[in-house]
Amino acid sequence: MIGCGNMGGAMLRQWIGSGVLAADAVDIVNRADRALPAGVRQTRDLPAGPLPDAVILAMKPQQLDEIATRFAERLAGVSVLISILAGVEEDALARRFRAGAVVRAMPNLPVGIGKGVVALDSSSAAPVVRDAVAALMAPLGLVEWVAPALFDAVTALAGSGPAFLYRFIDALAAAGVAQGLPADQAQRLALATVEGAGLLAAAADVGPGALADQVASPGGSTRKGLDVLDAEGALVALLTETIAASTRRNAEMAAAARG
Ligand SMILES: NC(=O)c1ccc[n+]([C@@H]2O[C@H](COP(=O)([O-])OP(=O)(O)OC[C@H]3O[C@@H](n4cnc5c(N)ncnc54)[C@H](OP(=O)(O)O)[C@@H]3O)[C@@H](O)[C@H]2O)c1
Repeated sequence: MIGCGNMGGAMLRQWIGSGVLAADAVDIVNRADRALPAGVRQTRDLPAGPLPDAVILAMKPQQLDEIATRFAERLAGVSVLISILAGVEEDALARRFRAGAVVRAMPNLPVGIGKGVVALDSSSAAPVVRDAVAALMAPLGLVEWVAPALFDAVTALAGSGPAFLYRFIDALAAAGVAQGLPADQAQRLALATVEGAGLLAAAADVGPGALADQVASPGGSTRKGLDVLDAEGALVALLTETIAASTRRNAEMAAAARG
């Protein structure tokens, strides 16, 4: 793995914790030592010896050219190159690295506890390679293959989604404070409510819309609140605008990386 910060580290911890990878089977190339799971080797340069089974690019997108200049020759012929670099398309990777297959992956931070989302895209990977990459990603959470044209939208919804939900939790707590709850208690209540509701929705055999209706009896207080969120599609409109703005920015960054 080249670069191993917040996201690379989260993936690595879950891979090793779930047993899908042995710590001593992983080499990290980082600029400085970081706290990593015991047994993982970390160096400043590619280790000597045969090519690894797979290379994962997990540094910042702006480091792509520097990393390609340093390592592309030595990595030529590697079976699979997986990149989590936001906004960097498969073609941009294939132009810089000669790999049997290039797979673009978009994880989100809950991969660190096995409850994340990993979107995948590859036009170059054979079915057997796609299956192997999907199996590698499976312990991280939900794995979905997406069309390249939808990657910017998936990045907005799932990649940035945790940040949007953190805002929602804060807003829920602030709304409770506005009704007189102490701030720390409102924060705890909001967080536990979102956690429990998410787990319940994930386990339910009906969709979230039906679940909301089950909680809201006619004329009751939940219905009154839902009426506010639903009035003229207020919440849907707000989130549509949020995801659209984020998707547009992803597209702009992808265009800039294309050159
Ligand atoms: N964070 C997210 O939610 C998220 C979601 C999806 C995708 N991503 C993608 O994940 C990638 C990493 O993001 P991050 O949030 O994990 O960033 P980060 O915490 O800053 O980590 C970047 C890592 O790359 C290393 N690095 C930078 N330049 C390097 C170089 N020249 N040689 C070797 N290692 C180098 C850094 O080392 P130093 O610490 O020594 O600088 C650090 O370990 C990005 O491409 C981002 O687009 C992130």
